[in-house]
Amino acid sequence: MQKNIGLVVGREWSWPPAFIEEVNKRDQGVVADFAKFGGDHHDGPVPYAVLIDRISHEVPMYRSYLKKAVLDGVTVINNPFMWSADDKFFEATLATKLGVASPKTVLLPNKDYVPGIVPSESLRNLKFPLDWDELAAHVGMPCILKDAHGGGWKEVYVCHTVQELIRNYNESGLLTMIVQEFIQWDQFVRCLCLGQEDVLPMQYDPKARKYIVDDDYLAPALRERIVKDSRTLCSALGYDMNSLEYAVKDGVPYAIDFMNCAPDMDVYSLTPTYFDWVVKGMADLAIKLARKPRRTAVEAKWSALFTASR
Ligand SMILES: Nc1ncnc2c1ncn2[C@@H]1O[C@H](COP(=O)(O)OP(=O)(O)O)[C@@H](O)[C@H]1O
Ligand SMILES: [Mg+2]
Repeated sequence: MQKNIGLVVGREWSWPPAFIEEVNKRDQGVVADFAKFGGDHHDGPVPYAVLIDRISHEVPMYRSYLKKAVLDGVTVINNPFMWSADDKFFEATLATKLGVASPKTVLLPNKDYVPGIVPSESLRNLKFPLDWDELAAHVGMPCILKDAHGGGWKEVYVCHTVQELIRNYNESGLLTMIVQEFIQWDQFVRCLCLGQEDVLPMQYDPKARKYIVDDDYLAPALRERIVKDSRTLCSALGYDMNSLEYAVKDGVPYAIDFMNCAPDMDVYSLTPTYFDWVVKGMADLAIKLARKPRRTAVEAKWSALFTASR
């Protein structure tokens, strides 16, 4: 029986049609197309074996549909539950526990609150005042202030003094901010990791925001460590489509950002070489999962409970 792969995408123009064409030309009983939602019933069918989500962080209704789809046995890339729960403070802790180098990271209280929160009455759990000098001494200067839930380089500040740190923090509004040790990198690497397994380390210029094709950029042992760390992180998070950024200093790859569930897959930034890798790799992965679904432990438990209550 034919299996369907549904793509959930925003404005990106290069990867989606290339992926659809790649899957469909392989003729393996699996057909890819743009998914369609709207006015869906909670107990209605989901006509996909696999859904690939590239935009639910900006279109929240899609996330709700995708969580329902998981209950219906659909493999959703990436897991919408993990993505909803993830943040950069959690990730720094996770990396350290997994033996992956991470910059020192400190979690800050929110600056502002929704109207129902009265700071003098509602915040009894917060230590006050915050010891800015202690945390600045811990992470060192300069440091990075960034949104724990951020992406796309929004709300990321390099701060050179405690005053500059506080000034930027004071503008952070309702966001949850973290302060991080600034890694003065010698090399900057971004990896695509597909299926928690296939890793492509690439030289990346964060200033120009472009990839540079150079297969010899990394010494073999460093490359091997980055590949291993990327697999470890993606399998701990359960992400099948992710990009991971490493700032390499004195030969140590510090994982500074690996919460990119809808990673850049544009042909212009990736270059045709790496674009081709990601089109083929995503087609391999999606076809494999459409033909042989994989369940997380929680999904397997739900499925057993559904069968038992039928
Ligand atoms: N701890 C750090 N040390 C050095 N540079 C950093 C650090 N954290 C972030 N940066 C720089 O800021 C950029 C954006 O930060 P990042 O955490 O990747 O946020 P986003 O999720 O918005 O991409 C990174 O690509 C890197 O160039
Ligand atoms: Mg980043």
